[in-house]
Amino acid sequence: MSTTAVHAGREQFRALGVHTPPLDRSTTYPLTSLDAGTASLDAMAAGGRPEGSPVYARLHNPTVARWEAGIAQLEQADEAVAFGSGMAAMTAVLLAAGAVGRHVVAVRPLYGCTDHLLGSDLLGCQVTWASPDGVADAIRDDTALVVAETPANPTLRLIDLDALVAAAGDVPVVVDNTFATPILQRPLLHGVAWSLHSATKALSGHGDVMAGVVATSGERAAALRQVRILTGGLLDPQAAYLLHRSLPTLPLRVRAAQANAMELARRLHAHPAVSAVHYPGLPGSDPSGLVGRQMDGPGGILAFELVGGHDAAAGVMKSVELITPAVSLGSTDTLLQHPAGLTHRIVGDEGRAAGGITPGMLRLSAGIEDVEDLWADLAAALELTAG
Ligand SMILES: Cc1ncc(COP(=O)(O)O)c(C=O)c1O
Repeated sequence: MSTTAVHAGREQFRALGVHTPPLDRSTTYPLTSLDAGTASLDAMAAGGRPEGSPVYARLHNPTVARWEAGIAQLEQADEAVAFGSGMAAMTAVLLAAGAVGRHVVAVRPLYGCTDHLLGSDLLGCQVTWASPDGVADAIRDDTALVVAETPANPTLRLIDLDALVAAAGDVPVVVDNTFATPILQRPLLHGVAWSLHSATKALSGHGDVMAGVVATSGERAAALRQVRILTGGLLDPQAAYLLHRSLPTLPLRVRAAQANAMELARRLHAHPAVSAVHYPGLPGSDPSGLVGRQMDGPGGILAFELVGGHDAAAGVMKSVELITPAVSLGSTDTLLQHPAGLTHRIVGDEGRAAGGITPGMLRLSAGIEDVEDLWADLAAALELTAG
């Protein structure tokens, strides 16, 4: 993984005579002849790669394509297709899967906006919400797609992907792999059809890029590119440049954040102001043994619940000084947020209850700071709140 992360998507660099990702900002490309332009256009309209000229930047961009190739290698997928955000990526999967106006089975909790996109009338999906064990019973003859997240945002609930794919039968499964990153989990190896990321998170890693990416088979990638051409949910080449620049350090950042999350989870678990800690690395938190079998580690994100409920959670968010009280995750600095009031507010009371999201829950995305400094900040905030 470490070697792949450093070299993936850089295969053409020597031939190009460059050492860092070349940034191509062209929106249009000169054509050697009309016939050559038409042939390339036809290839891309069919979901394929350009034959020579990319013709127009909504069809193809070389800087984006190199980062996509890198992600595909890490995910052990045929290909990856990049979008302007994680939500643009999810919308493209729903379109490419033919899920618009059709029946979808979804497992809660999901990231709040994914939950809302499915449940709102916007795309006309008819959703059956199911527990992981209830997926097989929820499948109908007209089910187009199964949607799941593991680890789930924000509760860190894990799903056995082999079992989920078996329960889905012939229905393809999309898994949001944002929390694990390809360093810790590669869903396609378990039969998942699309592994989706908000690349805004650890793949970018520095809190300065909005992006989404989907790793999948060659055939499904072609369908996603066709959707992208028509709907225009493109990744900007400058963002792709930054993402490719961040790729070599992804394993280091994920492992450092994971070590911090593990230690913070242990200490939070022992703290009297904390009623529960949700982190798959804690003893007893992974009864199916998925960490080790399906995941190469529990990851850098955890959730915890405060004895004092909503007000205590609000107090901790207000009191932290080193830790940033902000949504998002996977950054170099530690972020703390309140799912019920922020990322999952749009889901509504019933959906939050079904997903196990309580008013006293906080989600922490560990950064790569010194864990003692993080704990000193968190412990002081907990003390203030308890007092
Ligand atoms: C697990 C997960 N999936 C998808 C998204 C949506 O990604 P984006 O904000 O890049 O559109 C998010 C955003 O927080 C997320 O946490």
